[in-house]
Amino acid sequence: MGVPAQRLRGFGAQPRLLDRLASMSARRIEVCPDAVHLPGYLTLDAQRTLAERCRAIGTGPTGWYVPTVRGGGKMRVRMVCLGRHWNARTYRYEAVRSDHDGRPAPALPPDLAALASEMAAAAGMRLLPDVCILNCYGADGKMGLHQDKDEHPDTLAAGVPIVSVSIGDTAKFILGGLTRRDPTTMVLLASGDGFVFGGRSRLRYHGVAALLPGTGPPELEIEGRFNLTFRQGAA
Ligand code: SIN
Ligand code: MN
Repeated sequence: MGVPAQRLRGFGAQPRLLDRLASMSARRIEVCPDAVHLPGYLTLDAQRTLAERCRAIGTGPTGWYVPTVRGGGKMRVRMVCLGRHWNARTYRYEAVRSDHDGRPAPALPPDLAALASEMAAAAGMRLLPDVCILNCYGADGKMGLHQDKDEHPDTLAAGVPIVSVSIGDTAKFILGGLTRRDPTTMVLLASGDGFVFGGRSRLRYHGVAALLPGTGPPELEIEGRFNLTFRQGAA
Protein backbone atom coordinates (compact mmCIF):
# COMPACT_ATOMS: atom_id res chain seq x y z
CA MET A 1 0.00 0.00 0.00
CA GLY A 2 1.62 3.26 -1.10
CA VAL A 3 1.68 6.48 0.86
CA PRO A 4 0.21 9.40 -1.11
CA ALA A 5 2.96 11.82 -2.13
CA GLN A 6 0.96 14.71 -0.71
CA ARG A 7 0.95 13.12 2.73
CA LEU A 8 4.66 12.42 2.57
CA ARG A 9 5.34 16.02 1.68
CA GLY A 10 3.03 17.20 4.45
CA PHE A 11 5.18 15.50 7.03
CA GLY A 12 8.51 15.98 5.24
CA ALA A 13 8.98 12.21 5.60
CA GLN A 14 11.69 10.06 4.13
CA PRO A 15 10.05 7.74 1.60
CA ARG A 16 12.78 5.11 1.93
CA LEU A 17 12.13 4.50 5.61
CA LEU A 18 8.38 4.51 5.03
CA ASP A 19 8.74 1.97 2.28
CA ARG A 20 10.25 -0.33 4.86
CA LEU A 21 7.52 0.39 7.41
CA ALA A 22 4.47 0.09 5.19
CA SER A 23 3.03 -3.36 4.61
CA MET A 24 0.89 -4.70 1.83
CA SER A 25 -1.78 -6.06 4.16
CA ALA A 26 -5.32 -5.42 3.06
CA ARG A 27 -7.19 -7.17 5.88
CA ARG A 28 -9.67 -4.96 7.63
CA ILE A 29 -12.09 -6.11 10.33
CA GLU A 30 -14.70 -3.64 11.58
CA VAL A 31 -15.11 -4.79 15.20
CA CYS A 32 -17.70 -2.08 15.92
CA PRO A 33 -18.84 0.85 13.77
CA ASP A 34 -15.71 2.93 13.07
CA ALA A 35 -13.44 0.65 15.14
CA VAL A 36 -11.25 -1.21 12.68
CA HIS A 37 -8.69 -3.94 13.31
CA LEU A 38 -5.92 -4.13 10.70
CA PRO A 39 -4.33 -7.53 11.43
CA GLY A 40 -0.77 -8.00 10.21
CA TYR A 41 -0.57 -4.49 8.83
CA LEU A 42 3.21 -4.27 9.24
CA THR A 43 5.64 -6.71 7.66
CA LEU A 44 8.14 -8.42 9.95
CA ASP A 45 10.83 -6.17 8.51
CA ALA A 46 8.74 -3.12 9.32
CA GLN A 47 8.11 -4.43 12.83
CA ARG A 48 11.86 -4.85 13.32
CA THR A 49 12.48 -1.28 12.19
CA LEU A 50 9.77 0.05 14.45
CA ALA A 51 10.95 -2.00 17.43
CA GLU A 52 14.45 -0.54 17.01
CA ARG A 53 12.99 2.95 16.86
CA CYS A 54 10.94 2.36 20.02
CA ARG A 55 13.98 1.02 21.88
CA ALA A 56 16.13 3.95 20.78
CA ILE A 57 13.49 6.47 21.88
CA GLY A 58 12.88 4.75 25.19
CA THR A 59 16.54 4.46 26.14
CA GLY A 60 17.40 7.96 24.87
CA PRO A 61 17.96 11.02 27.07
CA THR A 62 14.24 11.80 27.21
CA GLY A 63 13.22 8.19 27.52
CA TRP A 64 11.01 5.86 29.55
CA TYR A 65 9.38 6.81 32.80
CA VAL A 66 6.57 5.20 34.77
CA PRO A 67 3.68 7.67 35.03
CA THR A 68 1.96 8.26 38.35
CA VAL A 69 -1.75 8.95 37.91
CA ARG A 70 -4.01 11.40 39.71
CA GLY A 71 -4.84 9.06 42.58
CA GLY A 72 -1.12 8.44 43.24
CA GLY A 73 -0.95 4.95 41.71
CA LYS A 74 1.75 3.95 39.25
CA MET A 75 0.73 2.87 35.77
CA ARG A 76 1.69 -0.67 34.72
CA VAL A 77 3.60 0.52 31.65
CA ARG A 78 6.63 2.62 30.85
CA MET A 79 5.82 5.61 28.66
CA VAL A 80 7.33 8.28 26.42
CA CYS A 81 5.18 10.89 24.68
CA LEU A 82 6.30 12.29 21.33
CA GLY A 83 5.22 15.68 19.99
CA ARG A 84 3.47 16.73 23.20
CA HIS A 85 3.61 15.34 26.69
CA TRP A 86 0.54 13.79 28.28
CA ASN A 87 0.63 14.63 31.98
CA ALA A 88 -0.77 11.64 33.89
CA ARG A 89 -1.57 13.79 36.95
CA THR A 90 -3.53 16.52 35.16
CA TYR A 91 -4.71 14.53 32.11
CA ARG A 92 -3.58 17.46 29.97
CA TYR A 93 -1.09 17.79 27.15
CA GLU A 94 1.88 20.10 27.63
CA ALA A 95 5.24 20.94 26.03
CA VAL A 96 7.45 19.67 28.83
CA ARG A 97 7.33 16.63 31.12
CA SER A 98 6.36 18.63 34.16
CA ASP A 99 5.21 15.55 36.10
CA HIS A 100 8.54 13.79 35.51
CA ASP A 101 11.84 15.51 34.62
CA GLY A 102 10.79 18.86 33.15
CA ARG A 103 12.40 18.04 29.81
CA PRO A 104 10.68 18.97 26.53
CA ALA A 105 8.77 16.12 24.92
CA PRO A 106 10.80 14.62 22.06
CA ALA A 107 9.54 15.48 18.57
CA LEU A 108 7.08 13.22 16.79
CA PRO A 109 9.11 11.77 13.88
CA PRO A 110 7.40 12.74 10.59
CA ASP A 111 7.72 9.27 9.10
CA LEU A 112 5.89 7.72 12.07
CA ALA A 113 3.17 10.36 11.82
CA ALA A 114 2.82 9.55 8.10
CA LEU A 115 2.57 5.84 8.88
CA ALA A 116 -0.29 6.56 11.29
CA SER A 117 -2.06 8.67 8.65
CA GLU A 118 -1.68 5.83 6.19
CA MET A 119 -3.15 3.33 8.66
CA ALA A 120 -6.09 5.64 9.37
CA ALA A 121 -6.72 5.89 5.63
CA ALA A 122 -6.57 2.07 5.36
CA ALA A 123 -9.40 2.02 7.92
CA GLY A 124 -11.35 4.66 5.97
CA MET A 125 -10.56 7.55 8.31
CA ARG A 126 -8.35 10.63 8.37
CA LEU A 127 -5.71 11.52 10.96
CA LEU A 128 -2.93 14.11 11.01
CA PRO A 129 -1.36 13.25 14.37
CA ASP A 130 0.47 15.75 16.52
CA VAL A 131 1.25 13.37 19.35
CA CYS A 132 2.15 9.73 19.89
CA ILE A 133 2.07 7.99 23.24
CA LEU A 134 4.58 5.17 23.20
CA ASN A 135 3.99 2.53 25.87
CA CYS A 136 6.26 -0.33 26.82
CA TYR A 137 4.52 -3.26 28.54
CA GLY A 138 6.52 -5.79 30.54
CA ALA A 139 5.26 -9.37 30.83
CA ASP A 140 2.81 -8.30 33.54
CA GLY A 141 1.90 -4.97 31.92
CA LYS A 142 -1.74 -3.95 31.64
CA MET A 143 -3.91 -0.86 31.34
CA GLY A 144 -7.26 -0.32 33.01
CA LEU A 145 -10.44 0.54 31.13
CA HIS A 146 -10.43 4.22 30.15
CA GLN A 147 -11.51 6.68 27.47
CA ASP A 148 -9.08 8.72 25.38
CA LYS A 149 -10.73 12.10 25.84
CA ASP A 150 -7.92 14.53 26.64
CA GLU A 151 -7.50 15.70 23.06
CA HIS A 152 -9.11 18.92 21.77
CA PRO A 153 -12.95 18.88 22.01
CA ASP A 154 -13.23 19.64 18.28
CA THR A 155 -11.15 16.56 17.50
CA LEU A 156 -13.33 14.42 19.73
CA ALA A 157 -16.54 15.86 18.30
CA ALA A 158 -15.31 15.24 14.76
CA GLY A 159 -14.43 11.64 15.60
CA VAL A 160 -10.83 12.03 14.42
CA PRO A 161 -9.45 8.56 15.14
CA ILE A 162 -6.80 7.16 17.41
CA VAL A 163 -4.39 4.90 15.55
CA SER A 164 -2.80 2.15 17.63
CA VAL A 165 0.18 0.07 16.48
CA SER A 166 1.31 -3.01 18.39
CA ILE A 167 4.75 -4.65 18.33
CA GLY A 168 5.90 -7.70 20.33
CA ASP A 169 3.72 -9.97 22.47
CA THR A 170 0.02 -10.23 21.71
CA ALA A 171 -2.24 -8.18 23.97
CA LYS A 172 -5.75 -8.92 25.14
CA PHE A 173 -7.23 -5.57 24.14
CA ILE A 174 -10.61 -4.84 25.69
CA LEU A 175 -13.08 -2.68 23.80
CA GLY A 176 -16.17 -1.48 25.61
CA GLY A 177 -18.91 1.02 24.97
CA LEU A 178 -19.45 4.67 25.74
CA THR A 179 -20.04 4.05 29.44
CA ARG A 180 -17.81 2.09 31.79
CA ARG A 181 -20.54 -0.46 32.48
CA ASP A 182 -21.26 -1.36 28.84
CA PRO A 183 -20.43 -4.89 27.70
CA THR A 184 -16.92 -5.40 26.36
CA THR A 185 -15.35 -7.48 23.63
CA MET A 186 -11.78 -8.72 23.48
CA VAL A 187 -9.57 -8.22 20.45
CA LEU A 188 -6.19 -9.95 20.33
CA LEU A 189 -3.70 -7.37 19.10
CA ALA A 190 -0.67 -9.18 17.72
CA SER A 191 2.67 -7.82 16.60
CA GLY A 192 2.28 -5.68 13.50
CA ASP A 193 -1.45 -5.13 13.97
CA GLY A 194 -3.12 -1.76 13.69
CA PHE A 195 -6.29 -0.76 15.48
CA VAL A 196 -8.11 2.41 14.47
CA PHE A 197 -11.02 3.81 16.46
CA GLY A 198 -12.73 7.02 15.46
CA GLY A 199 -16.15 8.31 14.48
CA ARG A 200 -18.84 6.60 16.57
CA SER A 201 -16.18 4.61 18.42
CA ARG A 202 -13.80 7.46 19.25
CA LEU A 203 -14.86 7.59 22.89
CA ARG A 204 -15.28 3.90 23.54
CA TYR A 205 -13.77 2.64 26.76
CA HIS A 206 -10.77 0.42 26.17
CA GLY A 207 -7.82 -1.12 27.97
CA VAL A 208 -5.36 -3.99 28.02
CA ALA A 209 -6.28 -6.92 30.29
CA ALA A 210 -2.99 -8.79 29.91
CA LEU A 211 -0.28 -9.84 27.51
CA LEU A 212 0.23 -13.35 26.20
CA PRO A 213 3.92 -13.64 27.10
CA GLY A 214 6.27 -15.19 24.56
CA THR A 215 3.89 -14.76 21.62
CA GLY A 216 5.80 -12.02 19.79
CA PRO A 217 8.05 -12.83 16.83
CA PRO A 218 11.34 -14.06 18.38
CA GLU A 219 13.35 -12.11 15.78
CA LEU A 220 12.22 -8.86 17.40
CA GLU A 221 13.79 -9.80 20.74
CA ILE A 222 11.09 -7.98 22.68
CA GLU A 223 10.12 -9.22 26.12
CA GLY A 224 6.70 -7.67 26.35
CA ARG A 225 5.13 -5.23 23.98
CA PHE A 226 5.42 -1.75 22.49
CA ASN A 227 2.21 0.10 21.69
CA LEU A 228 2.06 3.43 19.91
CA THR A 229 -1.14 5.47 19.91
CA PHE A 230 -1.21 8.40 17.51
CA ARG A 231 -3.60 11.22 18.25
CA GLN A 232 -4.62 14.58 16.82
CA GLY A 233 -5.57 17.61 18.87
CA ALA A 234 -2.99 17.58 21.64
CA ALA A 235 -2.02 21.21 21.04
C1 SIN B 1 -3.91 3.02 25.24
O1 SIN B 1 -5.11 2.86 25.39
O2 SIN B 1 -3.41 4.12 25.39
C2 SIN B 1 -3.03 1.86 24.88
C3 SIN B 1 -3.76 0.69 24.34
C4 SIN B 1 -2.85 -0.47 23.98
O3 SIN B 1 -1.79 -0.62 24.58
O4 SIN B 1 -3.22 -1.27 23.11
MN1 MN C 1 -6.24 4.78 25.49
